[in-house]
Amino acid sequence: MTKSVSILILGAGGDLTKRLLLPGLASLLSVHDYDVQVLGAAREERTDEQWRQLIRDSFGQVTDPADADRFLESARYIVTPDVTDVARLQELIAACDHTPIIYFALPPAVTAAVCAALRQVDLPEGTRLALEKPFGTDLRSARALNRLIAQLVPEEQVFRIDHFLGMSMVLNILGLRFANQLFEAVWNGRRIERVEIVYDETLGLEGRGGYYDHAGALIDMLQSHLLEVLALVAMEQPPKLNEVELRSNAAQVLRATHVWDDDPVANSRRARYTAGKVGDRSLPSYADEPGVDPALKTETLAQVTVEIDTARWRGVPFVLRSGKALGEKVTQVRVHMRPVPEIPGFGGAPAPDSIMLDVKSGAVELDLTMNGSGDPFTLERSTLVAKKEPGDLLPYGQVLHGILDGDPLLSVRADMAEECWRIMGPVLRAWKKDEVPLEEYPAGSSGPEGW
Ligand code: BG6
Repeated sequence: MTKSVSILILGAGGDLTKRLLLPGLASLLSVHDYDVQVLGAAREERTDEQWRQLIRDSFGQVTDPADADRFLESARYIVTPDVTDVARLQELIAACDHTPIIYFALPPAVTAAVCAALRQVDLPEGTRLALEKPFGTDLRSARALNRLIAQLVPEEQVFRIDHFLGMSMVLNILGLRFANQLFEAVWNGRRIERVEIVYDETLGLEGRGGYYDHAGALIDMLQSHLLEVLALVAMEQPPKLNEVELRSNAAQVLRATHVWDDDPVANSRRARYTAGKVGDRSLPSYADEPGVDPALKTETLAQVTVEIDTARWRGVPFVLRSGKALGEKVTQVRVHMRPVPEIPGFGGAPAPDSIMLDVKSGAVELDLTMNGSGDPFTLERSTLVAKKEPGDLLPYGQVLHGILDGDPLLSVRADMAEECWRIMGPVLRAWKKDEVPLEEYPAGSSGPEGW
């Protein structure tokens, strides 16, 4: 049976809707049969016709634009000067032909104000809420927002979006770990020395200065995405792959995670880019980018080392790092094994082996030490590579799939969102007090010297 829902995008005038949300929806609707009414609400003036054209163009990015036609007639755009206005919210809900999915493509403070206003609105049975990151601005505001949301709908109808959970490799981490003796047997601190979760981007601000300057790499990436990846890398095997078991095990990892030595000054680093060239694109200094206030000292590269205080992982550093305008795109979980003792007769100790999981492409690489090709009494490094075909769905399509199906497996549960803020809280506070120097790196480089 075709499922019918209305997606009401609040803040539909923004970049997210155009660049990620509608193309993600198109990738989903081109392979799955849903009856979806797409409503946009935002301050920006736009006609229904223009909205329909935007939907058509988004389909055009991923499939035949004509695939959009069956969704166009019911699609509507409603100019909404104040999205926190109770009467207007009531009208928006009334414009939904089916069970509404209210999608908050809004900054955290506006999201909170809309949720407060929604307490006075009659929400139809089954209404779902989808909330973009960052979820709140710190632990306190995330808790307050969770309390507010709990007054609106049950937790199973709340979808806190982390599109990383829609990336194919992220679930592959579980398949790879639990379907292979080879991995599961060594997946612990007795065998693993260090884990790095790296998401280096070559992109700069892409016109998002107004948002990014108030977030920075720590909130935009480490707090919002990389901790969720860490939870999957480190979790115990869930007894079932459902939203309760998977998310409970992820939450357990997060509860056990804290900044290494509880010392954010020694175990975090921050930097921002100066003018430079990434490939053949010249970027200005971050401080000179439009929408940036240099006095905020926002970092564009962040690194934090954490420990997961469980029997499996105690004593193993997990290094989380992400930055913008770097010379090379790296989207990897790198698992470094402990060294083996020297092997007599082979000319010294071999380099420790390592496993690399590419979060974006799904590729897996194993760095192994084998006998030298010319001289078998030596050792040399070889890499085994397994590649994967991309899935049918874009990450946003995968996440929307869960929302349309009403399955929150791949969205962030209330307590997980709070834990992520708790973990990064000491770092945020140390940076605010300027206890960690803000270093610099030229755009297009690999980061500051010595990192
Ligand atoms: C977003 C961040 O959530 O994730 C962006 O706000 C970042 O700053 C992006 O560039 C990275 O994800 P992807 O899928 O674009 O590589």
